[in-house]
Amino acid sequence: MTVTQRYRWLWKPLVFVAALTPALLMLAGAFGIAGRRLGADPVEALLLTCGKTALNLLCLTLTVTPLSKLARLPQLLRLRRMLGLFAFFYVLLHFTVYLVLDRGLDGAMIVADVAKRPYITLGFVALLLLLPLAATSTQRMMRRLGRRWQSLHRLVYPIAILAVWHYYWQVKRDVTEPLIYAGIVALLLGWRLWHRRRRTPVTSTYGSATAPERT
Ligand code: HEM
Repeated sequence: MTVTQRYRWLWKPLVFVAALTPALLMLAGAFGIAGRRLGADPVEALLLTCGKTALNLLCLTLTVTPLSKLARLPQLLRLRRMLGLFAFFYVLLHFTVYLVLDRGLDGAMIVADVAKRPYITLGFVALLLLLPLAATSTQRMMRRLGRRWQSLHRLVYPIAILAVWHYYWQVKRDVTEPLIYAGIVALLLGWRLWHRRRRTPVTSTYGSATAPERT
């Protein structure tokens, strides 16, 4: 048994703590715990941290399948659902910060934003597409939907594209970072296309090649 296999029971708790850390750091910053601060513009800091963390987790979720195949570590697949749900959690936080703290729940302003600011429209569409994925992430829904579950969860591919596009469009000057994310998403989706062309069944983000994940 290799070291990686021996300690695989640790993976889930470690990933859980790592994914929760940005939220805990934001909480500490908001309440001034351990001398932490959110900076001159706390709302902006919260909005950007949640957005960036959501995007990072979305990319990590998409990385699991290629990595598990390349490294021959199928156990890694057990981490996908947790990573995907954490990505959704941070998108919801990002959206809540925008609604409540940035826009003060001003319905007219929010509707105008979604309708007239293209980057917000894109983010909003990505959020709407994430909802059915989060709602069907349970074992029960996986069993109930069968093969349709995998097709539904392929929505994560357009979601990742919309998320990067949303980031690209909201950046005012230096687009280097969004372009790096675009490269990463292109690589992760390109790998799936290449893999499928080789006629090996490839999976949705959460599911395994033959059956949805059952962890
Ligand atoms: C999958 C969904 C989403 C992802 C992954 C995402 C991600 C991001 C990222 C990475 C940023 C830039 C952070 C930075 O510059 O460090 C950002 C900014 C922003 N996002 Fe989102 N976002 C999503 C959905 C939304 C939604 C639904 C809304 C609101 C309706 C929204 C509103 C904003 C706003 C207002 C900004 C900041 C603009 C600024 O003040 O500079 N996002 N988002």
